[in-house]
Amino acid sequence: VALGVLISGTGTNLQALLDYSRQMGTSCPYRVALVISNVATAQGLQRATKAGVPTSVLSHKDYPGGRPAFDAALVEELRSKGVQLVAMAGFMRIVTRVLLDAFPGRVLNTHPSLLPAFKGAHAHRDVLASGVRVTGCTAHFVVPEVDAGPIVLQAPAPVLPGDSEETLQDRVKLLEHRLFPAAVAAVARGDCRFVAGPPADKCGAH
Ligand code: GRF
Repeated sequence: VALGVLISGTGTNLQALLDYSRQMGTSCPYRVALVISNVATAQGLQRATKAGVPTSVLSHKDYPGGRPAFDAALVEELRSKGVQLVAMAGFMRIVTRVLLDAFPGRVLNTHPSLLPAFKGAHAHRDVLASGVRVTGCTAHFVVPEVDAGPIVLQAPAPVLPGDSEETLQDRVKLLEHRLFPAAVAAVARGDCRFVAGPPADKCGAH
């Protein structure tokens, strides 16, 4: 299965996907076919290049048509490389139906909390502020509502006394690096599928 990976930053989750694929060799059910970043300076682009994977930079700022126009450009780029499955690995943009309808049930994300708790872009900060003693990470299918899609895999990590956002992030990322490739592989293999139901406005129509 040709995998497209969307990133914005350091790309350690991309690295985990690349490492897993290399370690599994021919038994890995996915192959990273393309990495797209919306940030030209993202460190993850170098990781892709080092692994021999083609990269593209598509800046959302170049699309005055807003999110749908940006997503249409993503779709075009992903399709040009024959991508069949999309992994958002630290991609800090909200995606729309334009992307999701082009890859129905085929877009995955990694989020650094035990969803549905602590949605959004500041999970670690919110976890620390809340005082919970357990956090974790979630690999899930992407739906239009942010961080709300069906969960593929989840794993817990402790919140330790004295944790800062940084120490917590480091601990959770190590967990994501094991969880996300396993989740992507499970979906690529067909062991886990997301079959969307009828649109919300068609539910309970009788
Ligand atoms: C990860 O913790 C991911 O869950 C969050 O952003 C971080 C990305 O890290 N959305 P990296 O770029 O993969 O190192």
